Amino acid sequence: MATSSKGPMGSTSDWGSDFFGTLNDMPSEPVLGIGQILEAMSALPAFRDARNWLLRKLGISQGSSVIEAGCGNAPGLPDILSVVGTKGQVLGIDPTKAFIESARARTGKLGATNAKFEVGDIRAIPAADGEFDAAFCDKVLIRAGPPRAALGEMVRATRVD
Ligand SMILES: C[S@@+](CC[C@H](N)C(=O)[O-])C[C@H]1O[C@@H](n2cnc3c(N)ncnc32)[C@H](O)[C@@H]1O
Repeated sequence: MATSSKGPMGSTSDWGSDFFGTLNDMPSEPVLGIGQILEAMSALPAFRDARNWLLRKLGISQGSSVIEAGCGNAPGLPDILSVVGTKGQVLGIDPTKAFIESARARTGKLGATNAKFEVGDIRAIPAADGEFDAAFCDKVLIRAGPPRAALGEMVRATRVD
């Protein structure tokens, strides 16, 4: 029988994730290793092309605000910033504390004061209804429980034209 552990997001079975739901309870070394794998995957042309295709489809531009749901350690941040620019706003959400710390360190290196990263569950996005211009996720939906819950929140936090 599968076991689950209690963390800041409640039990892992509560938020319906796979092994990603256990990372907050793991020693830092394997978590860092998984972060490096995310980083390496993100740089592969196929994943990078897919992310940039998705960003183009969002209808965002310089100055737009965007949520990345399940941002991991935010390897896609430079691509997002290349679309929204320094006047845009980026909010990344992920339950894994070590990933959010890495994402915040990345904003420091990039000087991206317009990018914020929060520990959280995309099924409860910390944003008001319609607050953002767009929301997207990259390699996340199969990991975050029923897609309806995650997608519903992403739609709620996105403005309706
Ligand atoms: C394969 S990684 C992709 C990370 C990042 N989007 C990227 O492209 O590198 C999947 C991510 O989904 C996150 N995740 C899983 N369940 C989640 C949930 N309920 N809310 C937010 N993020 C979640 C994991 O913590 C992990 O960082």
